[in-house]
Amino acid sequence: MTIASPFSLAGMDVVVIGGASGIGEASARLAARSGARVVVADRDEAAAGRVVAAIAREGGTAVAREVDIRSGQSVGNLFPGLESEGFQPRGLVSTPGVNVRKRLADTNEEEFERVVSLNLKGTFHALRHGAASLARSGGGSIVLLSSIRSQVVEAGQGVYAATKAGIVQLARTAAAEWAASGVRVNALAPGVVETPLTAQIEKRPDWKQAYTDKTLLGRWASAEEMAAPTVFLLSPAASYVTGSVLFADGGWTAVDGRFDPL
Ligand SMILES: NC(=O)c1ccc[n+]([C@@H]2O[C@H](COP(=O)([O-])OP(=O)(O)OC[C@H]3O[C@@H](n4cnc5c(N)ncnc54)[C@H](O)[C@@H]3O)[C@@H](O)[C@H]2O)c1
Repeated sequence: MTIASPFSLAGMDVVVIGGASGIGEASARLAARSGARVVVADRDEAAAGRVVAAIAREGGTAVAREVDIRSGQSVGNLFPGLESEGFQPRGLVSTPGVNVRKRLADTNEEEFERVVSLNLKGTFHALRHGAASLARSGGGSIVLLSSIRSQVVEAGQGVYAATKAGIVQLARTAAAEWAASGVRVNALAPGVVETPLTAQIEKRPDWKQAYTDKTLLGRWASAEEMAAPTVFLLSPAASYVTGSVLFADGGWTAVDGRFDPL
């Protein structure tokens, strides 16, 4: 007889918004490998379709859906639509985010609104519609993407950092509000991860090295290294974890100096 692993997502329907690229794609693929039926939801439906095809090649089950999380109506239609097709969402990962790296003095109103409307307002839409859907399914787990920038900053990160700190407080509040419905809500805080979002930094060796040197592990993370803690938070293995922030940052935020007396 095999005893089921608490890390398994077998029997779970998991919606990954932003699942067409980067951390979302890696999370969708690992969730499927862990036994979930996955909904790859993204603004880029063609790219979501390519992830679905990759999941099928890996022996998993997934469907693609188009959604724009900046629109409450678009997210509001996604979950009832899935439920009417027979899905019972038990897991939600929401990843879409954008950064405009400019000093506050140089950031105009349009740039401020572009970052806030995707990162903070979009996450708000995904969270409240997703939590309601998971509650209708009998409970589940939500993972929101924050960042080390919720805690520590540098010049040029002001608006992005504010949204990532805001996401932590949305996660904590949602954990309080939906606990009685059996819905857990947590935030994942990555450091630096090799994805299309950070491709701009990859092209500047001095910039990339500066970030590498901030980590204790001496390297950037792969998207797969963010998928594993995401799947953990989705799984029954994290059944007592809610309202928390999991830092998967290679040690970036653990230390503030490098002097070693030995
Ligand atoms: N990559 C890193 O180093 C890093 C570090 C810390 C935090 N994060 C956070 O992790 C999250 C994911 O980052 P990533 O590197 O995987 O990004 P990514 O750019 O590779 O993927 C983002 C996905 O979201 C989709 N998307 C964009 N706008 C959307 C919208 N309006 N509606 C629906 N889908 C939309 C994109 O099509 C894409 O598939 C972000 O919130 C980011 O801030 C990333």
